[in-house]
Amino acid sequence: MGTMTTESADTRPAEHAALPDHEIPTMSVDELRGTQLERLRQTVRTAYDNVPHYRAAFEAKGFHPDEWQSLDDVARMPFTTKADLRANYPFGMFAVPREQVVRVHASSGTTGRPTVVGYTKADIDTWADLMARSIRLAGGHPGDIVHVAYGYGLFTGGLGAHYGVERLGATVVPVSGGMTERQVQLIQDFRPRVIMVTPSYFLSLLDQMESEGIDPAATSLQVGIFGAEPWTEAMRQEIERRTGMDAVDIYGLSEVMGPGVAQEAATTKDGLHIWEDHFFPEVIDPITEEVLPDGEVGELVFTSLTKQAMPVIRYRTRDLTRLLPGTAVPSMRRMEKITGRTDDMMIIRGVNVFPTQIEEHVLAEPRLSPYFQCVLTQPGRMVELTVLVEPLTRLDAGAADEIARTLQHAIKTHIGTTCRVEVRDPGSIERSIGKARRIVDERGTG
Ligand code: DLL
Repeated sequence: MGTMTTESADTRPAEHAALPDHEIPTMSVDELRGTQLERLRQTVRTAYDNVPHYRAAFEAKGFHPDEWQSLDDVARMPFTTKADLRANYPFGMFAVPREQVVRVHASSGTTGRPTVVGYTKADIDTWADLMARSIRLAGGHPGDIVHVAYGYGLFTGGLGAHYGVERLGATVVPVSGGMTERQVQLIQDFRPRVIMVTPSYFLSLLDQMESEGIDPAATSLQVGIFGAEPWTEAMRQEIERRTGMDAVDIYGLSEVMGPGVAQEAATTKDGLHIWEDHFFPEVIDPITEEVLPDGEVGELVFTSLTKQAMPVIRYRTRDLTRLLPGTAVPSMRRMEKITGRTDDMMIIRGVNVFPTQIEEHVLAEPRLSPYFQCVLTQPGRMVELTVLVEPLTRLDAGAADEIARTLQHAIKTHIGTTCRVEVRDPGSIERSIGKARRIVDERGTG
């Protein structure tokens, strides 16, 4: 990033300051950088003064908040990881007295304690604004009916979406996840224009519709706001082909806020605009921790700019992507669709493989359903990958064999990894009502 403002004053023009935060910002890049710097200074100060973890981390780095001069100084700050949040479980990362925290959420995590996040009243307000912006950019309008099938509860998806729909001035149908038949019934009866749901659970809704003889393209749905898990361009095409909807991507994580950190525009569908007036993004090399220039793929890192209850400094998301210039929202950089998480990277005979790469090849075979799982085993010294897939309709052994061989060959040719492909029975691969489990790790279980 070449030009960075070192001004400390809030340089937003009066008309921006007057623009409600739930509308898509029209500020210039210079104005944005000024806002970021001002807000960063404030955030760092608050974190340092109120959170013992941050004070210790800054001291260990030999960097004092008073030394702040320009946005380049972000790179001098310490990183924060999920382990830091766990070590301060449950409320140790809060920067305000617990009485000012009006809500907590938590993410379960696969191992150990959950990570807890907290929000002040103002944080909930900001979140609602950013979600309202996100839904707008996705093609939602005030007055729409919005079906929310993200889970409600400790997961941020349901309630995050819910408050955003209300803030937008649309009608929210708070269905949460599960009870698939009833979801379809409600879509038929309430006629929502927009649905917010994980892409994998949306596939189950489509299957349910089709099993009832309902043509998904004939429903009222026009916009799908899909996120909370990686999904590919091939999946977008599959969903849009089956439904005639606009399928757009929404990104977020509980540690940084929840859904609505970044949103793809329905008009461009070219990656997700990061709401940079509230989150400062960096992409780093996950091994050396060096900051990478825009355009290079690495691990996404966020510093929150306006969060009160739980500011995060250089939070390592473990998500892999790259930063690109703004398009639909010119001043805000985009992040490319996420390739995967560093945790989801499978290393098969020295080749790095992500489930998203497998997904593209599964979807390229029209006889297969979009459900798949990657099973890892280690019978000897080597880790082996078995890809489980299922056909749309029952196939004879010859056809199943041919699909397995073709897919195996495509994966070998395009990804470079040897794997086995098992064609299972239609409907036999695990379905989820939230995030799909793409990797089943059976190493060490015999
Ligand atoms: O999944 C928040 C969310 C809810 C986002 C609803 C979008 C929609 P967590 O449970 O904390 O929060 O999980 C965050 O999910 O670090 C990514 O690995 C993954 N993730 C979220 N959105 C996307 C996306 C919510 N659009 C973790 N593409 C993140 C790929 C995503 N991965």
